[in-house]
Amino acid sequence: MADAAHAAAPQTDAPQRRAEAVLARMTLEEKAGQLHTVDASGPDPAGRLGPEIASGRIGAVINQVDPATLRELQRIAVEDSRLGVPLLVSRDVIHGFNTIFPLPIGQACSWNPDLVRDCARAAAGEAAASGVRWTFAPMVDIARDARWGRIAESLGEDPLLASILGAAMVEGFQGEDLAAPGTLAACVKHFAGYGASEGGRDYDATNIPDNELRNTYLPPFKAALKAGAASVMTSFGDIDGVPATGNAYLLGDILRGEWDFDGVVISDWDSIGQLITHGLSEDMAAAAREAAEAGVDMDMMSSAFIEHLPEMIRAGAVDEARLDAMALRVLTLKAALGLFDDPYGQAHQDAAPCVEAARDLARRAARESLVLLKNDAGALPLDFGAIDRLAVVGPMADQPYEQMGTWVFDGDETRSITPLEALQDTLGEDRVAFAPALETTRSRDRSGFKAAVEAAGMSDAVLVCLGEEAILSGEAHCRADITLPGAQLELLEALRETGKPVVAVIMAGRPLTLAPVLERVDALIYAWHAGNMAGPALVDVVCGAFSPAGKLPVSFPRSVGQIPIHYNRKNTGRPPEAERILHIDDIEVGANQTSFGMSAFHLDDGYTPQFPFGFGLSYTRFEYADLTLSADEMTRGDTVTASVTVTNAGDREGTEIVQLYIRDPAASLTRPVRELKGFQRVSLKAGERRTVRFDLTEADLAFSGRDRRVRAEAGAFEVWAGGDSTAALHARFVLRD
Ligand code: GLC
Repeated sequence: MADAAHAAAPQTDAPQRRAEAVLARMTLEEKAGQLHTVDASGPDPAGRLGPEIASGRIGAVINQVDPATLRELQRIAVEDSRLGVPLLVSRDVIHGFNTIFPLPIGQACSWNPDLVRDCARAAAGEAAASGVRWTFAPMVDIARDARWGRIAESLGEDPLLASILGAAMVEGFQGEDLAAPGTLAACVKHFAGYGASEGGRDYDATNIPDNELRNTYLPPFKAALKAGAASVMTSFGDIDGVPATGNAYLLGDILRGEWDFDGVVISDWDSIGQLITHGLSEDMAAAAREAAEAGVDMDMMSSAFIEHLPEMIRAGAVDEARLDAMALRVLTLKAALGLFDDPYGQAHQDAAPCVEAARDLARRAARESLVLLKNDAGALPLDFGAIDRLAVVGPMADQPYEQMGTWVFDGDETRSITPLEALQDTLGEDRVAFAPALETTRSRDRSGFKAAVEAAGMSDAVLVCLGEEAILSGEAHCRADITLPGAQLELLEALRETGKPVVAVIMAGRPLTLAPVLERVDALIYAWHAGNMAGPALVDVVCGAFSPAGKLPVSFPRSVGQIPIHYNRKNTGRPPEAERILHIDDIEVGANQTSFGMSAFHLDDGYTPQFPFGFGLSYTRFEYADLTLSADEMTRGDTVTASVTVTNAGDREGTEIVQLYIRDPAASLTRPVRELKGFQRVSLKAGERRTVRFDLTEADLAFSGRDRRVRAEAGAFEVWAGGDSTAALHARFVLRD
């Protein structure tokens, strides 16, 4: 099935006509002023920016969310400038505004576009109530490297999942009408390939061959634009020698040309100025010209356009028609947002959106973002009725700020309920023995271990909350070692030695290497940074009120040395086979060069991840059988329906995310060994059985070929269905011309 993104909201040309009328009256400087986005944070923004706004030299502001301040800045624009053109007010509303939902990587574990859309909608309502009308989200960069701090704000490693969830975020932010209250213009970012930063180091070079760019990194952007995303943000990255912000192939040939995108393209923070630093442009004037001619409309924070475009147009170095087109796109966005009719938007409204409703949604989203990775001997759920006392231990057990994660500038930690608070509310304080054991996740001071061991000793079980503080992931916060920081593993060892059942909860902004954790716990829940309601959501699952259903949107490496490791890898000419590889410790002394598997694996960590894409356990057990296809041959335009029977073979209700994968085993380009092509959430009672059906169309089989045409190639296709990307149930069909 093609991606589920809805058809873009109906485009009327009234906003453009409105914009054309304004543009026709503008001077060169006023046109260039529309392209200038400046930071309005810090002291006295009206005093500092007022003169430039009044002279029409500023088109948008970022990082100001105080309604009164925004009203004053807008008043200056509307009343004091010659043409009264209102400002665009922008902010990074990534996973919530005041109410913080799980990180995007956590929301992606829900595989639930409706939920993701609802979270974006709620965030838009809160942000618009302050006067914000433009968010720099969704971030749909495909992320395969857990060292990269920004994997936290990604939707994972798969193009289809990121496409469907990214489109859902756009729909949530933008609604049906950009001019409606509680709406934000979306800005899909970072175009493109940012997640491939070398070494998992943020901002590093990204060398992405065109086939990989078109088949892996671009599809989620195309889906977000199909959902109607109003704008695009360029990546900081150098792509094969041409930084995205000056890359005419990317912004011109593909975005403006092949995709016919006529919305606003904004540079990332000073990324036009960084064209000099990259070594592409010799000075700011050259950078301004390169970015404008590549396809950038809006300059965030480098002042290149406002300072250099007017003079270059007068000198004939840049066409005024180009400047007109850039300014027209910005003015059209302002008209579509209704800013010319109501420049103050909701900023003058007193009624802020309902906090309780947002918190209930945040609890549901956090619940669905939790992934059960281990549950030996049914350690979970805990029987709260039978527990006299529960030890709650660890540096993340009571951290209202840290549990929100990165990108929470406007997050309200007073809305947070921590695991400790939620457990005390549920069990009663006298039945909870709390010991943080470590001051922070990075702490190596073990003086708190004694109290933790004592708390465990007086309790029936231990719930230990570990992970990373929020600052250890996010932009520019990358790690070369992705184990638990500090002395957390030592804490786990001390708790294991008590002999009590140990349930671990990890809150982090990235996949961590978990082997040493898994050896020391009876159960493990991966909670990411689950937002304000991490605590109640965790209790809902730990006590068994809800069976966890989350599935990983990204592979978990066994060690950092395996990176990049992702399910949709290429087969290579020598794919590894379990029976033909050896572990480093099993190799005979003096073994000769070809003594075992000459294939693509590591001597110490093999070739499979710790946990594969799509993996997640439940409190029940699902069995798959009878994968059948409606036909073993398909002609173009046809649909093949794959049916699989799913049974809840356990003794309690549960929700399963049934996944469908394909492979094209012989094509003009080598294709991934598996590609997700469909998923469905099914909730089944104990013993209940259901047949789940997936329609595969020609579009689902298509890929961008050597000639850059997207089409399905005739030939055989493999099909798998199951509960994760290692699904074993297999079928095969042939596409005939
Ligand atoms: C940052 C980020 C980008 C964000 C922008 C504005 O550097 O790269 O994602 O939208 O600047 O805050």
